Amino acid sequence: MPAASLGAIDAIGYTLLPSATRPLQTFARRRKASLKAAIGMTVASGGLLAAGLVNGANAPSRSSIANPSGVNPHPVELTLPPVQPLSAVALLGKQLFFDASLSGSGRESCASCHSPRYGYNPPNKLTVQPGGADMDRLGERPPPSLAYLYRQQPFSIGPDTSPDDVTVNLNAIAASASTHVRAQKAAGTAQAPAMVPQGGLFWDGRADSLQRQAFFPALDPAEMANGSVATLASALAKPPYRQQFVQLFGPAIVNDPDRLVSEAMFALVRYQIEDPSFHAFTSKYDAWLQGKATLSAAEMRGLKAFNDPQKGNCAACHLSQATADGLPPLFTDTQYEALGVPRNPHLPANKNAKHFDLGLCGPIRKDLTSQTQYCGMFLTPTLRNVDRRAVFFHNGVYTTLKQVMDFYNLRSVQPDKIYPRDAIGKLALYNDIPEALHGNVDTKDAPFDRKVGDKRAMSDLDIQDIIAFVHTLDDGYTPMPKPSESDAVGAN
Ligand code: HEC
Ligand code: HEC
Repeated sequence: MPAASLGAIDAIGYTLLPSATRPLQTFARRRKASLKAAIGMTVASGGLLAAGLVNGANAPSRSSIANPSGVNPHPVELTLPPVQPLSAVALLGKQLFFDASLSGSGRESCASCHSPRYGYNPPNKLTVQPGGADMDRLGERPPPSLAYLYRQQPFSIGPDTSPDDVTVNLNAIAASASTHVRAQKAAGTAQAPAMVPQGGLFWDGRADSLQRQAFFPALDPAEMANGSVATLASALAKPPYRQQFVQLFGPAIVNDPDRLVSEAMFALVRYQIEDPSFHAFTSKYDAWLQGKATLSAAEMRGLKAFNDPQKGNCAACHLSQATADGLPPLFTDTQYEALGVPRNPHLPANKNAKHFDLGLCGPIRKDLTSQTQYCGMFLTPTLRNVDRRAVFFHNGVYTTLKQVMDFYNLRSVQPDKIYPRDAIGKLALYNDIPEALHGNVDTKDAPFDRKVGDKRAMSDLDIQDIIAFVHTLDDGYTPMPKPSESDAVGAN
């Protein structure tokens, strides 16, 4: 499709949202310690540290949590997205989102893979979803959630780019960063790369905006399989859509396939941005942050272990605190990491032993294939509603949160519990990344900074507690505000 028709409307996506959306912790790079992040928050939002929820080197024992009651002693006022009736364009987008007749097979809509009932995760337990004109093609990765993308910045590599920056030559930036990284790795030091990949959509950040993204599934032969812009446009130029497009965009639109499809994608974006269900913030944790709910003892211990650099250190990457300006945490720093999750033998593409999905450096993403320092890196996903997923990580290798926790806890200290052995009995460490690239795997950030044989970072109870805490990130604890209540919400 012509880039021009996309470019004109690209600016309307996330870039129009308020600019105060940078996570406070973007400066905390490698060797991510959630403590540092949390101290930043303490200054900004008034004292989780003081409440004993975040503990540093001399971590007090469980019994000394200053706040056994489970109440947030320092409630914050969250800046939530506005709740208002959907615009006409968003209402059109909503119809498109659920309309299976727009797919090549006639059986698949966006919601087939991104179901609102499951936090916009897939509604089934399949590792990859069926699609294509005959629904006999399988995708390459598990679909991520579509929720909580409203603050996602375009993909970039760098210390701290402004959201308004136009993407520059990524390879040039990556190349300048790479000499730096490699030098440090050769010296065996644990220093941070100066430049970090961040932002973007998909597991590998290859789509910059929701608008650009929507073309992929609509036309992808393994997904909605519309074949061409023309096929999709002809479906949109018929009832029930014809009249709506004419009303919203003028009569000429039905004769302009590129524009017709562009506006349809724009409508899908408006739906995802405007509909509160995509960023509901109705979890128990959100209520707790605002002082409106009490966490159970297990959830409270879980929050503490989640934030504790000596235990989960989860919050170093899955940010758990509101930003300085009150934006609720999204449980991702929107950066990329190579965690070295084990290979998933059930992925169709993995039948080929030479196939490796290396995220940022391809083969699905095409523009950074020469930047081998990024091979194996995937976007840190949100943990909101994550237990409504049935498969975890970019390759869907795990099917329970307990398995995920065991991976974080054991990968470094007991790798034989995580990776299989090869034909001659050798441990197949990091077996989803070619050996020459194993240096990219994160061994700096806790809990991955331990050595084989070291003590595990988390006890069985810590793991149970963290899982209990993660359940508090499910939406639906407090009822979703109704559009008509928007005034009351705004005044809140
Ligand atoms: C056949 C299943 C399938 C269908 C149908 C589908 N998607 Fe997806 N979607 C995926 C997969 C798989 C990914 C991740 C792909 C990757 O990372 O390479 C994805 C990723 C996305 C993302 C990026 C999310 C993120 O967290 O980065 C968005 C946005 C999205 N899809 C929107 C849509 C829209 C809008 C539709 C309907 C026009 C749609 N999808 C239809 C499977 C599907
Ligand atoms: C160094 C950064 C980092 C730390 C620390 C970290 N994560 Fe992650 N997390 C990631 C990245 C990156 C991914 C995606 C990796 C992939 O798919 O290859 C991920 C994926 C996940 C997933 C799967 C989500 C999904 O949609 O499939 C869960 C669950 C999760 N992390 C929970 C945790 C918990 C709990 C902790 C603490 C014990 C933790 N993470 C610590 C970066 C981190």
